[in-house]
Amino acid sequence: MSRSPSQRLNQINHHLTNMTHASVFQEVPQAPPDAIFHLTATYKSDTDPNKINIGVGAFRTDDMKPYVLPVVKKAKTLLFNDESLDHEYQPIAGQPSYTHAAARLILGEDSPAIKEGRFAAVQTISGTGANHTGALFLQQFYKKSKKCYISNPTWANHRSIFSLVGFEVEEYPYWNPETRGLDYEGLLQSLRDAPEGSIFLLHPCAHNPTGVDPTHDQWKGIAQLMREKNLFPFFDCAYQGFASGDLDNDAWAVRYFVEQGFELFVCQSFAKNFGLYGERAGNLTIVAKTSEDAKRVFSQFEKLQRSEISNPPAFGARIVDIVLNDEALYAEWKDNLKYMSHRIIEMRHALYNHLIELKTPGTWNHITDQIGMFSFTGLSPQQVQVLKEKYHIYMTGNGRISMAGVSTKNVAYLAKSIDDVVRNV
Ligand code: LMR
Repeated sequence: MSRSPSQRLNQINHHLTNMTHASVFQEVPQAPPDAIFHLTATYKSDTDPNKINIGVGAFRTDDMKPYVLPVVKKAKTLLFNDESLDHEYQPIAGQPSYTHAAARLILGEDSPAIKEGRFAAVQTISGTGANHTGALFLQQFYKKSKKCYISNPTWANHRSIFSLVGFEVEEYPYWNPETRGLDYEGLLQSLRDAPEGSIFLLHPCAHNPTGVDPTHDQWKGIAQLMREKNLFPFFDCAYQGFASGDLDNDAWAVRYFVEQGFELFVCQSFAKNFGLYGERAGNLTIVAKTSEDAKRVFSQFEKLQRSEISNPPAFGARIVDIVLNDEALYAEWKDNLKYMSHRIIEMRHALYNHLIELKTPGTWNHITDQIGMFSFTGLSPQQVQVLKEKYHIYMTGNGRISMAGVSTKNVAYLAKSIDDVVRNV
């Protein structure tokens, strides 16, 4: 349809006005790059032959290669050859064979919560998704408090996840820089001071970023105060089996709280202990007082999940499902876990021995005392910066080392570089 000259003029004016209007996105501030994943990107672009990535928490073999667990390879072959599998949608909350096996793994086969059917579980987008779904649920249905306490120092994502859904996020002291261990008294004081009903985010094992865990007796003290103050335990378990090499040992704190009659949430990630980083297989389990409560909570999990991701992804969860539900594969998985956790423990000793040999000023026993993927070294941000610029060693600014990035080949170089910055920066 042809337009009159005045219509065309109007159209041109309209275009011009649009062009001079500010963008609706003009006010969007630039977000800083992610502290952990940006480091990996910078490391990858570094061409120095001595470079070391001890930033991200991802397991590497002694040759610094990503590790595909042998048991995962077997499960993949089974999946590949299974003609009955298709690519249909998963149930909204995931396959019960997967979510229940995950719940049994963390709570224990003999858990009263399992026996009495007062738990509910939903497959999530790894541990981050589990934290998010849990936070979203609590924001909507938990009426006692809108305060959530996370540890100081903390895993970077906890604050964002809880504050983005509307919680007022506070920190409880966790790391004592003097002892380079747990600030147990500080933690207890926070429990005493927190308003009734506050949520406490706890790492049951291999605390990220410090690698420092409470002892069993300390957990008992924490539980006692939490009961007195009616505080809500929200466990985030990303390293079961990875910390000590023993699945039961690493789940001890969660199981103790369940025994003590707490209602709680527990998040699981299968990124580290199955080496399934990219597959995003996770799980959120709630332990309730009654099976009726658990059922209603589950119905709300399904509702939340539907609006967030609709249905969870199948591939990674199928691998975990196969392994957790097969006796022989399960036993083999435990061996794979032992290999990973022991390699890390060996590297802790190797780094410690080198630093002692070099007579690096300070005490270093915390490196071998700490547990799991990370060691919190106590190095300052300036020392970390020099390690990067001078030695091409990449670690997070808080002085955290991912021990999985240390190998028999780079440990001497790492120790020498640390020695230099400790003496001179
Ligand atoms: C880490 O802390 O390095 C890992 O857990 C990766 C992540 O998601 O932050």
